Amino acid sequence: MNDTLPLGVVAEEHIDRFKAIVGEQYVFVDTESMQHYGHDETEHLLYLPEVVIKPRTATEISDILVICNEHRIAVTPRGAGTGLSGGALPHLGGVLLSMERMNTILFIDERNMQVTTEPGVITEVLQNAVKEKGLFYPPDPSSRGSCFIGGNIAENSGGPKAVKYGVVKDYVLNLEVVLPTGEIIWTGANVLKNSTGYNLTQLMVGSEGTLGIVTKIVLKLIPLPKYDLLMLAPFQSLEKAGEAVNAIFRAGITPSAMELVEIDALKIVSAMMDSVAVPVTDDIEAHLIVEVDGNNMEVLMQEMEAVAEILQQYEAGEVFFADDAQQKAELWKLRRRTAEAVKIKGYTIEEDTVVPRAELPVLIRRVKALGEQYAFHAVFYGHAGDGNLHIRIKKEGISNSFENEEMNIILRELFTIVKELGGTISGEHGVGLVQKGFMDIAFDDANLQIMRAIKKAFDPNNILNAGKIFDLE
Ligand code: LAC
Ligand code: ZN
Repeated sequence: MNDTLPLGVVAEEHIDRFKAIVGEQYVFVDTESMQHYGHDETEHLLYLPEVVIKPRTATEISDILVICNEHRIAVTPRGAGTGLSGGALPHLGGVLLSMERMNTILFIDERNMQVTTEPGVITEVLQNAVKEKGLFYPPDPSSRGSCFIGGNIAENSGGPKAVKYGVVKDYVLNLEVVLPTGEIIWTGANVLKNSTGYNLTQLMVGSEGTLGIVTKIVLKLIPLPKYDLLMLAPFQSLEKAGEAVNAIFRAGITPSAMELVEIDALKIVSAMMDSVAVPVTDDIEAHLIVEVDGNNMEVLMQEMEAVAEILQQYEAGEVFFADDAQQKAELWKLRRRTAEAVKIKGYTIEEDTVVPRAELPVLIRRVKALGEQYAFHAVFYGHAGDGNLHIRIKKEGISNSFENEEMNIILRELFTIVKELGGTISGEHGVGLVQKGFMDIAFDDANLQIMRAIKKAFDPNNILNAGKIFDLE
C-alpha cells in the first residue's frame, strides 16, 4: 500500500471532526487561506490544500492524524513557509497543518545549557531569548527572522555560522514527535551523549515532515562568544575567491562565517535595499564576507590580519573592515536578503549544491560553461566555507523547475557535475518536491529502498507529506 497516493478526500464530516478537536476558529476553508498556505518560498509554485488546520497541542495533532490515517487523507505539515525545496507545499491537496500556534519557548535550562521549545517559535526569537542568558544557539538560516525552528529541524538547516558551529543536527538532543498513526513519542533523551539504540532523533532531523510531526524540541546550547569581527574582500575572479576560501582553512583559521556573493547578485540586492555598503564596480566578480568570533579581541585581530594577508595572496582587492555594529548589520542584511532580491529579478530557480570545499572553483567554472551551453544565466552566493553554493538560475520563459522538461535536463547535468565532484544535491534546503526527481543521482537504488522502507515503518498509509523526497509510485 505504501508509495501510493493518499486517496481520501476531505469531506464535511471530517471538517466537523477537526473543528471539534481544535475549535471552530482554527479550521479554515476560505479561498484566501488556501492561497496563503498553498505556496512557500520555492520558485513560483502554488498548490491549494482542501483545509487548513492550526492545532495547539500534540494531542490535538494526534487526534487529527488518527482521522487522516483512517481515511487516507494527505497531510502536509508547515512551519513559517520559508522553505526553498517545496517541503511545505500541499501538492496533493488534503490537510495543511500549520504549526504557527505552537509558539512557546518552554524552558531555558541554564544549568544544563539546553532549551526546550515548541516548533512554531521564530528562530531569531529563540536565539535572542537564550542570548539574554549568555547562551548561544548558532544555526542561523538567512530567513531566521521569519522561519520557525520546527522547519529548521525538518530541513536540517544551516546558515553562515555552520562553517564553525555546525548545522541544526549538531544541536538537536531530543524530540517529541506525533507519528502518522497517532502515537506520541520522545525520540531520545536530554543528554549530550547517547548510544542507546537507533538514533531516531537524528532520523527525524532533515526528514522534511515525512516521518512524524515534531511538537517539542530540546536543543543543546553553547556559551555566547563575546566578540566578532567582520571583513569584506572584493575579487576580480570568482574562482580566485573560491581558492582563497580553501587557503584560509588550510592556514589553520576557522572563521565563524565565510560567505561568497557574486557581483550580479550583490548588485541586485544592493539596488533593492538602496545600499552602497559594498562597492560593485565592473571589474569585480565576487565578494567574500569573512567573520571571526571568540572571547579574546587580540586573538581575533591577529586572525583577521592573517586572513587579510591570505586574501591578498589570492588577488583580493582592498579589504573593507566593518567598524561598528551598524556596518556589520548592513552587510549581513545584504547577504541575508540576496535570495529574495534575485528571485524578484527572475532568478526563480534555486539550487543548493554542496561539494567538498576545495572543489568550489571547479563547480563555479563548470556551471558557467553549462549556462553557456543551455542559454541560462546563473548567480552564485552562499556558504563558501562549507562548499555549499546556492545557484540561482534565470532562463527565458521558465520560472519553475518542477516538472519542466527543459529545466529537468539542465538540472540533471548540473547535479551530475556536483556528484562527479564528490558533492550532493542539497546542503541545507532539503529535497522536498523540486529536487526529488534527482535523488537517483545522489543515491543508489539500495539507498532509496532503505529510505522507502523507513518511510513505510513510520507511515504505513503514506499520508504524511507523501510524494516528498521520493516520488509516489
Ligand atoms: C541563503 C539561503 C537561501 O543562504 O539559504 O541565503
Ligand atoms: Zn544558505
